[in-house]
Amino acid sequence: MSSARDGFSSTFGVLAATLGSAVGLGNIWKFPYLTGANGGAGFLLVYLLATLLVGLPVMIAEISIGRAARGDAITSFQRLRPNGAWGLIGVAGVIAAFLIMAFYSVVAGWVFAYVAKAAGGGLLSTDPKVTSAAFGALVSNPWQALAWQWLVLGVVGVVISMGVSRGIEAVTKRLMPILFLLLVVIGVRGLMLPGAADGLAFLFKPDFSKITPAVVLVAVGLAFFKLSIGMGTMVTYGSYFRADQNIPATATRVMLADLLVSLLAGVAIFPAVFAFGFTPAAGPSLVFITIPAVFASMPGGAVFMFAFFVLTAVAAMGAMLSIVEVPVAVLAERFRLQRWQATLLSVLTIGTVGSLAAMSSSATADWTLFGLNPFDLFDYLSSNILLPLGGILVSLFVGWAWGRDAWRDALAQGGGKAAVIRILFVLVRWVSPLLIAVVMLKGLGAL
Ligand code: PHE
Repeated sequence: MSSARDGFSSTFGVLAATLGSAVGLGNIWKFPYLTGANGGAGFLLVYLLATLLVGLPVMIAEISIGRAARGDAITSFQRLRPNGAWGLIGVAGVIAAFLIMAFYSVVAGWVFAYVAKAAGGGLLSTDPKVTSAAFGALVSNPWQALAWQWLVLGVVGVVISMGVSRGIEAVTKRLMPILFLLLVVIGVRGLMLPGAADGLAFLFKPDFSKITPAVVLVAVGLAFFKLSIGMGTMVTYGSYFRADQNIPATATRVMLADLLVSLLAGVAIFPAVFAFGFTPAAGPSLVFITIPAVFASMPGGAVFMFAFFVLTAVAAMGAMLSIVEVPVAVLAERFRLQRWQATLLSVLTIGTVGSLAAMSSSATADWTLFGLNPFDLFDYLSSNILLPLGGILVSLFVGWAWGRDAWRDALAQGGGKAAVIRILFVLVRWVSPLLIAVVMLKGLGAL
């Protein structure tokens, strides 16, 4: 590839942007609500296993594909193996990117709205009825939900159109560390609450009776969603990696840091759930109704809450940039659109599909398919079907089409260790495709 191709400019920048993609609403919104709804510690354990056995190897595979091919999510596969239809993995990824953004931008819109509410000193209450009502009023008002969603999309569009190193890298690098610190503060406060022990037991003492095949599929889907894999994001970001970057080491660091953020979010939320009498299974509203209660119970809570939602918005932004980068890179490189044109087209498409999701508690609430409204449908289809499917295909690509020698060379560049690569290859060739396939078939009730 030509040296003019945009990319990440430093090792820290690579780490920050990749971590910026992984860390997002997945940690602060999805992980807590899924853990709460699926029984707590047992779910956490399955999620951990899925992350280690399947998530990390697939993440390494995707980054290496992107870096070796230096192309977008479709072109990369074709460049490495021109014969066959491997580019379709990228096509599925682009579709998944649109579906994920369609609901992700809605939740990011709620976060933006909470920034504004927190700035006005609202929301603070330890009464579950009060915080639930405040959330309900926001989501069931179609105009508000839409306006916040489109504002989010506007901001995403502006940052993306500035380019990879100036836009994405600059923003994520500065703000990630602050989010981390703030979560520690909230976590410590959560641990000091009177019911903290029950919350910790829920999060860390497994009850395996809650683990059904459907729950396992949700955990696998979360592992993919969390690491931004199965849809081309890590292929695209891998194409911006420097040649001297150690891919397995970088991916492992990102995975661990991401996990830590999720656990911190869990520690920040579950003690409060039990202390103030919320239900852990509240669903997507969980964070939005419990977090204000934690802040209401602490001195200076209004200021901390404002900072929390600002930083959550920033984390969501890093993740969204990486999702939208998938179609933008395809449109810019394959279809030779200007970067701003590619961005505009992507954002408008997302906004159009996403509007259906934004109105899922109002105008489109009855537009159901398989019993799911648009918001839930996009979430379910992407996390539990498209991402795991993408994971199977990426594993098959590396394990059987690209092959061991080429993969070893791609990972050895930058310092991947031979023994590590050998283990990873077994995981990618055998374990991950078979395991994901079984989990999917069982989880969907087909086996
Ligand atoms: N990993 C991001 C999060 O947890 C979401 C994401 C999914 C980003 C897929 C990119 C691709 O918030």
